[in-house]
Amino acid sequence: MPKINRRQLLAFTSAIIPSFLASKLDSAQAFSLEKAATSSIGAKVAKSSAVKVGQTQIFSGSSASGTSIEVVLTRTSKGLFALDGACTHNGCGVAAQGSKLVCPCHGSIFASDTGANLMGPNGAPKNTLQPLTKYKVTEKAGYIYIK
Ligand code: FES
Repeated sequence: MPKINRRQLLAFTSAIIPSFLASKLDSAQAFSLEKAATSSIGAKVAKSSAVKVGQTQIFSGSSASGTSIEVVLTRTSKGLFALDGACTHNGCGVAAQGSKLVCPCHGSIFASDTGANLMGPNGAPKNTLQPLTKYKVTEKAGYIYIK
């Protein structure tokens, strides 16, 4: 195993750590619909590159009233979709499973693009629940915005 001295270790860590922290902070930044209320484009949620075709990602932020919310972004060959991550049954946060969103509380399933209810709570038929709330989604200069 090669030996490295303290100076080499310091040079390595001072070069790596700032860029690592910058990338983490950028990807972990929470959005705020409240702060973006006067913006015509809405709140910046993520980099466009964070949601590739065939992927669903969930981002945390705050609503127009300042409460915590999660937004589900899904990119398909048909486009980019933004949904509220709160289940329309009792408000639990949905989780992504392939092209579906599953509620961990009572097992309801929603489509990750349209938000349509594919299965109701505890195995109830589809469309038992309202679809997930949709947001208007826009991409500009490499970022995704919702309103
Ligand atoms: S809260 Fe989601 S199924 Fe009950």
